Amino acid sequence: MNRNFDEIVPVRFVEDRLLLLDQTRLPGEEVYIEIQTKEDLWDAIYKLKVRGAPAIGVAAAYGLYVCVRDLEPDSAEEFAAEVRQTADYLNSSRPTAVNLSWALKRMVKTMEDYLTGCEDAAAQSGGTADEERKIHWVKEALRMEAGKIHDEDVAACRAMGEYGLTLLKPGMGILTHCNAGTIATAKYGTCLAPVYLGHERGYNFHLYADETRPLLQGARLTSWELQRAGIDVTLICDNMASIVMKNGWIDAVVVGCDRMAANGDGANKIGTSGVAILAKEYGIPFYMFVPTSTIDLSTATGDDIVIEQREGEEIYKMWYEKDMAPAGVKTYNPAFDVTDHKYITAVVTEKGVVRPPYDVNLRKLFGKEV
Ligand code: MRU
Repeated sequence: MNRNFDEIVPVRFVEDRLLLLDQTRLPGEEVYIEIQTKEDLWDAIYKLKVRGAPAIGVAAAYGLYVCVRDLEPDSAEEFAAEVRQTADYLNSSRPTAVNLSWALKRMVKTMEDYLTGCEDAAAQSGGTADEERKIHWVKEALRMEAGKIHDEDVAACRAMGEYGLTLLKPGMGILTHCNAGTIATAKYGTCLAPVYLGHERGYNFHLYADETRPLLQGARLTSWELQRAGIDVTLICDNMASIVMKNGWIDAVVVGCDRMAANGDGANKIGTSGVAILAKEYGIPFYMFVPTSTIDLSTATGDDIVIEQREGEEIYKMWYEKDMAPAGVKTYNPAFDVTDHKYITAVVTEKGVVRPPYDVNLRKLFGKEV
């Protein structure tokens, strides 16, 4: 795909240094910040310097390694306790996107499997494993696992691009909400991956980006990355989705996902469910792009997904020179909402396009009994 992607990936891991594109400074400035401590990373995730479910997962995986890399504990057990504590702390930064806990759990499991393997090998040889060597190699295992999570996300997004493109036709008008593009993932994006692929293949799509209040991911990020890639994009306010659909300008809606429950209900950026309901009214297909790392079969339905609540100041203060609401006004600022599975025409994953019934077909994706 387009070489531009190498320039604007959100997470870089270079010479053992973790660099994150500070997305709060886009579109004005393209600045990478270095993460050196767990507090740096917690803050970067909480403040959405790194954001988008898959990108958060990749950053957390590398970040966990970076935060424990220089520890010099006396025993592997002490090291393992530090790793678990750091993972729990990082996991508390944002609750809804499952990729955060998924990636951290995977890192902790890698460590535990490695340490169990060492004990088994030592027992077989009748000796004891050297603690310093164990700690050294478990750090290596963590670094490699983070790299695998990163590479797998690149491959998953690429595959979702191909599968997604089978649902789209040249010349289509496509509406998207929030940012599920290249800077929300390791590379390429989830729902924007087919848009980039199609662009390379001359599909000539017309994109409409909801601005996505209150944090303006659509305005600041989606319209920036699409415009930069030379894709035709029109920015609209969130409350204009209905009129562009009524005008006949939208042939498909594509969005990402932060956590999909076992029944196919999908939590995504606040406002997504309204777009899905509108799409149904206008007879427009609504596609949710969900890598398997974002599907959480242990959550039964959307009602069980914890929705992040954020500061009210994001609504009336953060992006404005002066307050846009009277002092002391009450606010309600949920960062996500859940789109009921009945509004989702298809779920695009890296393993293929999944159609209803989702409670059956999502489980099949994981090779589970239904
Ligand atoms: O609060 P954000 O910006 O992290 O929310 C991001 C979204 O809702 C995305 O649509 C979702 O994470 C999918 S990203 C491929």
